[in-house]
Amino acid sequence: MHDDGFLDLIDHDSFANGVPHRTFARLRKEDPVSWNEGNDEIKGFWSLTRHADIALANKENQIFSSAQGIRLEDQSREEYLARRTFQETDRPEHFAVRHAVAPNFAKPTVAKFESLIRELAADICDKALAKPEFDAVECIAKQLPMMMLGRILGVPDKDLDWLIEKGDALIGNSDPDFTDHVVDKMDTSAYRLMPFRSPAGIELYDYAEDLLHKRREVVAEGILAKMMCDENGLKELEFKNFFCLLVAASNDTTRYSIAMALNLLAHNPDLIAQLKTGQYWNTCADEFVRLAAPTMHFRRTATQDFDLHGKTIREGDKVLLWFVSGSRDETVFENPNDCLLGRSPNRHLAFGQGGIHVCLGMHLARLEVRIALEELIKRIDTFEAIEEATWTRSNFICGVKKLRVRARLAA
Ligand code: HEM
Repeated sequence: MHDDGFLDLIDHDSFANGVPHRTFARLRKEDPVSWNEGNDEIKGFWSLTRHADIALANKENQIFSSAQGIRLEDQSREEYLARRTFQETDRPEHFAVRHAVAPNFAKPTVAKFESLIRELAADICDKALAKPEFDAVECIAKQLPMMMLGRILGVPDKDLDWLIEKGDALIGNSDPDFTDHVVDKMDTSAYRLMPFRSPAGIELYDYAEDLLHKRREVVAEGILAKMMCDENGLKELEFKNFFCLLVAASNDTTRYSIAMALNLLAHNPDLIAQLKTGQYWNTCADEFVRLAAPTMHFRRTATQDFDLHGKTIREGDKVLLWFVSGSRDETVFENPNDCLLGRSPNRHLAFGQGGIHVCLGMHLARLEVRIALEELIKRIDTFEAIEEATWTRSNFICGVKKLRVRARLAA
């Protein structure tokens, strides 16, 4: 679908060739609090597209509540209660769980993974580059987040392919490449109590239940073991939903950030030369994540009427915070569509910065993106696309699905 600046954000097809950045640029300029009509399935909603407005809504988290769902989909109270994780709660409930799990994701904790990440990334790059041509998403971008997810959760490597397939089916629930149950093309009401209204949710619930009842091995040092048995222990449904959240939230997001970097390298040899100078390793990961902004939006619900730029958002209205748009706001970022590896400060919103729900995994994600690239760059002289990249069909998660490349090894 051609992005003429007027694409409908409710339509997953508007995103099938990549993010409709012209539409977001127009909305930022002309209609920053824009009302989107609903359809047969989904009620209408507001879109906030400017950096400052998204930051404001994130800060005013009692007015812009997460506690009625964070996806565009309308949920009944029953569906909400069955599927919610702490991400779908407000203070003080949110704080209690966040406080319990946060130490596992703190910067110093994650820094201890650096040598493991490097070992895995080196092996992944060696295997990928052994072939003259390959799909860089499948062979590089997908591999590292998947392996790290296994280490962090504490589940065995042999389960990872299966977990990732199910995670893809959850988060990619509008893309026929990832699921047979495409949410906007068929009736998924049988799965309405499952995460992402997806049958994959049932299988992930069963897996989590086996972990919980010790029918399946889990490594004692992993996060899951900690969440199962100490004073932080979650109740059964909470644990299952937390498990699904980690499988879905940590994996595709980091994959698509690495994939964005690879897609940029494959079309801009100059970026490879710049990275080879070694000057940009502290800043480049954030620039790639800014440009990728893989979870394009999260939703809030207004708990009271709120006036903004001459519009009144009514109590009960759904409000989408388009992090993908705020991260390219021309009033904040110079040349917002360019990849400036040394961009600093880089006040992007791709991790939901400024809000109480700011990404728990951001330190890990940054480290993975940086190290994957360091290991790749030292091994290659050239890296070029041999086919156009393909993109996810989703107005929620955005990323390069497939990127066939040819690489020449460094002398
Ligand atoms: C580049 C990769 C990533 C991106 C772009 C990303 C993006 C985000 C965003 C935008 C939010 C805020 C949601 C909101 O405002 O409602 C979020 C929250 C979250 N992320 Fe990430 N994420 C990434 C990687 C990860 C990883 C690696 C993990 C775990 C290992 C993770 C776990 C979480 C969790 C648990 C939350 C919910 C936090 C809360 O509600 O307090 N994410 N993420």
